[in-house]
Amino acid sequence: MSELSVNHLLGIKYLNKNDINLIFETADHFKEVINRSIKKVPSLRDITIANIFFENSTRTKLSFELAEKRLSADVINFSASQSSVKKGETLIDTVNNILSMKVDMVVMRHPNPGAGVFLSKHVKAAIVNAGDGAHEHPTQALLDSYSIREKLGDVGGKNVVIVGDILHSRVALSNILALKLQGANVKVCGPKTLIPKHIESLGVTVETDLRKALNWCDVANMLRVQNERMDISYFPSTREYTQQFGVNKALLQSLDKEIVIMHPGPINRGVEITSDVADSNQSIILDQVENGVAVRMAVLYLLASKIK
Ligand code: NCD
Repeated sequence: MSELSVNHLLGIKYLNKNDINLIFETADHFKEVINRSIKKVPSLRDITIANIFFENSTRTKLSFELAEKRLSADVINFSASQSSVKKGETLIDTVNNILSMKVDMVVMRHPNPGAGVFLSKHVKAAIVNAGDGAHEHPTQALLDSYSIREKLGDVGGKNVVIVGDILHSRVALSNILALKLQGANVKVCGPKTLIPKHIESLGVTVETDLRKALNWCDVANMLRVQNERMDISYFPSTREYTQQFGVNKALLQSLDKEIVIMHPGPINRGVEITSDVADSNQSIILDQVENGVAVRMAVLYLLASKIK
């Protein structure tokens, strides 16, 4: 039987192509399950999962929680704002306290890059990185690729442009790694100040003209400007950003071909995309959300099967 090459999901960086294929095949099965009238399977009946979130989250947290419940896992939720972390407790102490209640897996979102890797070395549980600062967000990249595969077939050979705040986005880095691993062609597009130096070393090209990038691509993944991670101004004004890097219906309709629009959410409507684009039939934003549950079920199931 096939299994993942890793015991934790800390980043796309640690996965190989077979891992991604296995996750997608498993997700296909779970997608069928969650569309049945009885949406639940007993696969993780003996597993307890703690969701610990040190940073705000709506869809990622709900999506993991739903995935866990659909697999019949026992679930506990912990958010930093209501915890002893505020009283000065360390990350390892906080997590070891939770683990002593016989928890098998930890899904963690943390503002510090590398927090998941650190934890995996110090505690005895399978760790899933649900976003570590501006570093990686592996399940988002997996569900994004899964959604491209569902819409257009094999991700290999597809042209994907990631637009916006590449510098502060964990979604960008994880997507680049996942898309390259599957053989897609990847471009990044955004203001020069929001494109990291040496990004080409990841095998991507840079395009600062949005229209050119859109005319080249099959899929455009539109990212949110991560204002909360900015201590200085990276562009003159939101209005100017939108004029140069926002997608509206007129721009979409003036392109040479029909492209697929993606967004990880939360959307700033009217900034990176207008409402008529977000809600158009070229957008697969809600499919991404639906697929997120199936993909996270697959990840949790495959990691849990390595625990025993
Ligand atoms: C992303 C995140 O938190 O990194 N959102 C998400 O997980 N759906 C992207 C974002 O916050 O812009």
